Amino acid sequence: MTHIPAHVPTGLVRDFNYFDLQQDRDIHEHFHKLHRGPDIFYTPQHGGHWVATRFDDMAHIFDNDADFSSRHATVPFPPYQITLMENDGQLHDDFRKLLQPYFSPKSIGSLETVATELTTSLIDGFINNGECEFTRDFAMRMPIIIVMNLCEFPKEDTAHLTQISEDITRSHDPQTQAAAFGRITEYLSGKIIPARMANPGKDMISAIIHGKVDGGRSPTQMEIMGLSTLLIVGGLDTVASMLGFITAFLARNPAYRQQLIDEPERIPKAMEELFRRHGVANIGRTVARDLEYKGIQFKEGDFILTPTTAAGLDDHHYPDAMRVDFDRADKKHLAFGRGPHQCIGSFLARTEIRVFLTEWLKRIPHFEIKSGEEPQVLPGKANRVTYLPLTWKLA
Ligand code: HEM
Repeated sequence: MTHIPAHVPTGLVRDFNYFDLQQDRDIHEHFHKLHRGPDIFYTPQHGGHWVATRFDDMAHIFDNDADFSSRHATVPFPPYQITLMENDGQLHDDFRKLLQPYFSPKSIGSLETVATELTTSLIDGFINNGECEFTRDFAMRMPIIIVMNLCEFPKEDTAHLTQISEDITRSHDPQTQAAAFGRITEYLSGKIIPARMANPGKDMISAIIHGKVDGGRSPTQMEIMGLSTLLIVGGLDTVASMLGFITAFLARNPAYRQQLIDEPERIPKAMEELFRRHGVANIGRTVARDLEYKGIQFKEGDFILTPTTAAGLDDHHYPDAMRVDFDRADKKHLAFGRGPHQCIGSFLARTEIRVFLTEWLKRIPHFEIKSGEEPQVLPGKANRVTYLPLTWKLA
């Protein structure tokens, strides 16, 4: 058991491992239960860290990057620094500017056609079976192909990159993560970076390699590697997880599904409520100086987990937070973060999920969880649906 530091009051210590659902089956119920305890508490898990549970505290932390640094944004700390996501201040701004043009609504607009064709062709592949395992057959396949398009990676590398991304995000074993990082380093440094160094394209990876940061220097090999990895992993796992949670919800709740079938124009607004209710990203911040917040002493270097999953389920902020209400007045949520690090891929993610819902509900309006089976879920840096067996009646 980790030693509890002297500045942590004993009354604020709770044993909470955010990778472990314990006896709970519903991840969101599990995070909702955090609100029965103190708003901010300390857990001895993963070397010891704070956990913020309320929307307002997380918003404060995300907005105040001078006090709450991103130099470690996940726990346990990965064996490398995640470029952009774990940079602060000017260096963060410099990297963000290199990527921004690729994520603008105008650039993403051209990917909408790719996303639509991909969605229909994936559905074509299994619709006549009357069933699919949604995670394997759809959720893991759609977003990686979109990211590969964005980075202009060769199509034949899809399976290889999917596996690496899974090892980095699913595992909380530092050795597995380090090995996966080694494999992606090998892939990028062997196949992709030298080619684009010599012959820059118009793609995002070329823009990173040939960009200037930090007063005019070129990004280091490690920075290029870290950022390319973040784009692959960030763009796959979160979208796959969100697709899984939303689809499981619609499979279990035909009345909600019917509203979107009858009035597809409601999909964009309904999506925001579904994002709030099914948050996936559990990120954090590192305290940048000794400070007091809400009567608690924090020491420089303390890590605070800011699980956006719990922020969306905060009854102090959202009345009857566990209930999905497509007409909820407050559509703001923290599912994509907030402040300087707010998700740069959020427009792309919204496009992918909107295209999915529109096309899926047209082709497979009535579906349910396969009888006698249970979806499987795992909490972690990104909560995920690892197994989602669906069935539907053939027309
Ligand atoms: C439903 C899907 C998604 C969710 C829930 C999500 C969530 C988040 C969150 C909460 C953050 C903030 C991290 C922090 O504050 O430390 C973030 C940042 C980021 N996301 Fe996403 N994301 C999604 C999709 C995507 C996609 C599709 C991409 C790109 C292909 C992407 C790329 C990134 C990048 C590069 C950052 C770092 C931004 C920065 O530090 O300035 N994300 N995402």
